[in-house]
Amino acid sequence: IAPNNAAFHTLAADIFMGALNRAAAKNGPIRVVLPTGSTPLGLYRELIAHHAHRRDLWDRFHYVALDDYAGLAPDDRRLFSNWLARDILTPLSIPPTHRTIFNSAAPDPSAECARMDAQLDSNGIDIAVLGLGTNGHIGFNEPGSAFDARTRLIHLSADSLAANAAYWGGMDHVPPTAYTLGLGHIMRARETILLVQGPHKAEILHRMLHDPISTALPATALRQMYNVTIVADQAAMSAAE
Ligand code: F6R
Repeated sequence: IAPNNAAFHTLAADIFMGALNRAAAKNGPIRVVLPTGSTPLGLYRELIAHHAHRRDLWDRFHYVALDDYAGLAPDDRRLFSNWLARDILTPLSIPPTHRTIFNSAAPDPSAECARMDAQLDSNGIDIAVLGLGTNGHIGFNEPGSAFDARTRLIHLSADSLAANAAYWGGMDHVPPTAYTLGLGHIMRARETILLVQGPHKAEILHRMLHDPISTALPATALRQMYNVTIVADQAAMSAAE
């Protein structure tokens, strides 16, 4: 638990770098799921400012997309893969060959989901960094998502449309459909870091920790996982204990 905003980002960066160092103990690429949204932005700034020199880790870093909008051209700036390219991947010189992303413009969404499933089945996730939706979603696994769900195309809930409207100048500009990794893939990550910040997350964090484990609140799936670290600020934690 971090006492304030600045401490939240440095704590998240320290915990993330610890996970990256542990993952580096095995050979080969370090496969990391990263979220978009407002919560991880300070973490990304912190990694670029203070940890970019760890080329031994970044050269092995492999970004795996958590979710992304569907039906957009590859250069659309709204794509989460392009958002993360701007905010962390390009600043840390992670080459496109080290990025497993959705092909948003794929003509056949079920084939695209199967392609991602095959990637995830053969190469697991070393570290999943996640945010918490105010409705309890993880990635775009909205309430009602099965814990063993695989990659799929979803229609954004009203909550998610509203939450993303701010980034793109209104609800009309938010693409209505998106791909998401299923909880089935996410729950097999070797380590998970859940970032939760702000008073508007206090109620859902409390519910995630204390409500019955249920698909009605997808984030309760994390209580069935190993090696989960929740990084919260005091405001998010206020109602949670
Ligand atoms: C983003 C994502 C979402 C967010 C969640 C929290 O790629 O998958 O699940 O992590 O909605 O968003 P913020 O951080 O904006 O509160």
